[in-house]
Amino acid sequence: MALTGGYCESKLDSMPSAASLPTTVDAGNFPPIIQGGMGVGISGWKLARAVSRCGQLGVVSGTALDLLLTRRLQQGDPGGDLRRALRHFPLPGTAERILSRYFIEGGKPAAAPFRTPPMISHRPAKATRELVMASAFAAIHLAKEGHDGLVGLNLLEKIQTPALDVLFGAMLAGVDVVLVGAGIPRQIPGILDDFAEGRRAEMRLDVTGSTEPVLIDLDPARFMTPRQPGRPLFLAIVSSPVLAENLRRKASGRVDGFVVESATAGGHNAPPRGPMQLTDEGEPVYGLRDHVEPGKFAKIGLPFWLAGGYADPGKLLEARAAGANGIQVGTAFALCEESGFEPALKARIISSILDRKLSIRTAANASPTGFPFKIAQVPDTLADSAIYRDRARVCDLGVLREAYRKPDGGIGFRCSAEPVDSYLAKGGDAEKALGRMCLCNSLCASAGIGQMRGGCEEPPLVTLGDDFEVIRRFIPHGRSTYTAADVVRVLTGE
Ligand SMILES: Cc1cc2nc3c(=O)[nH]c(=O)nc-3n(C[C@H](O)[C@H](O)[C@H](O)COP(=O)(O)O)c2cc1C
Repeated sequence: MALTGGYCESKLDSMPSAASLPTTVDAGNFPPIIQGGMGVGISGWKLARAVSRCGQLGVVSGTALDLLLTRRLQQGDPGGDLRRALRHFPLPGTAERILSRYFIEGGKPAAAPFRTPPMISHRPAKATRELVMASAFAAIHLAKEGHDGLVGLNLLEKIQTPALDVLFGAMLAGVDVVLVGAGIPRQIPGILDDFAEGRRAEMRLDVTGSTEPVLIDLDPARFMTPRQPGRPLFLAIVSSPVLAENLRRKASGRVDGFVVESATAGGHNAPPRGPMQLTDEGEPVYGLRDHVEPGKFAKIGLPFWLAGGYADPGKLLEARAAGANGIQVGTAFALCEESGFEPALKARIISSILDRKLSIRTAANASPTGFPFKIAQVPDTLADSAIYRDRARVCDLGVLREAYRKPDGGIGFRCSAEPVDSYLAKGGDAEKALGRMCLCNSLCASAGIGQMRGGCEEPPLVTLGDDFEVIRRFIPHGRSTYTAADVVRVLTGE
């Protein structure tokens, strides 16, 4: 039996446009396959657009979009896509300001460092806010170009300071679905409601050591946009039915469904239930309590998609039989032609999988978020302990910084992967700094926008799910690469 979404190519004409966003997840019409959001830049607009064109839900990663935009502009914006998208951004003068600061005709010299926008704090300057909004707008605008399929935006709850601006920019471009994981995204649904009603939205920032609420806000009226965006659907990415039920009942607005992610998925994973136990290799031990039971999610009564090791033709039917609407797939799409991995790195990863040389480690303490993080053991990346040791710690992007209350009452920001001395001086815990990796710089390098320091590029880092062997079945006979459409075709059984 072939499974497709209601939005397959033949039904493009009847699909919702930005002006008429879906208001509920209509199980008969909503795509059965969600392409997982993959940061930094792995699920960029090219991948999301390719997946949406196949009638499935293409998802743009909302992580570090300001860095992606400004660095790609400094690489000359080959093809002019970003400049074309920026021309549609509705806040007057913003596109010109961004282009005059970051665009380099023909691209910067290869060895020259990138100019980096300011780190985003709880009180960002107006120019920073506009840059973040414009970068989210451009990514969603491009992902939606040339088709009527649905496009989603993925955010990590842990990355709070730019969240309001990213959401607003994405909504201005007509994003259809917002998906948020890595934390408990209670506040996001209400924010989407506020923006859709043209109201000022507030977000309470998590601040270590603070009992006083610290709020970030965004008032659409301040940005004088002529457009009133529609309210996208909201899917929370969870791994426990208790958390899902809690979100359904207590979130600040409507939750439309869940992506249920198991610990085999690429990227960050939820920590194991109960006290953290590690194997001799330092990997978290997951037990029976961590096993996803679809029946428990079905009882909640909202649509859900299963994620983590589902990129197998039979698995979509299996998920549907278990009560799920479909599946979310990351790793399989991460290595297709349209994904944002730097091309030579992508080719190396694919050939090491085909040669059966790749392995994946779940690192308990590499990510500054504190969540377990899957690391592909690819040579010449930060996964190599010698390369990790040789890299001098530097924190100049600050996407994963933690906000903390300073002794003088002010708000400070620190990252457990920053230079240890400065982390400790900010009251950081020495144990937390051990083995931490700078995901900001290394994941940017994986997407081909690594910073140059003294003529050398930052080392990349690759995350993939445990189920990476599946890519073999997507590569057509006689080829060494595959497309997003190949993945969709195999998974839907067409
Ligand atoms: C390269 C890569 C990056 C990822 N980054 C994110 C991310 O930024 N946010 C997120 O919610 N999930 C992220 N994920 C998880 C995927 O969205 C998806 O849920 C997961 O990959 C599904 O499991 P699979 O890898 O077995 O298909 C990432 C996965 C990969 C492979």
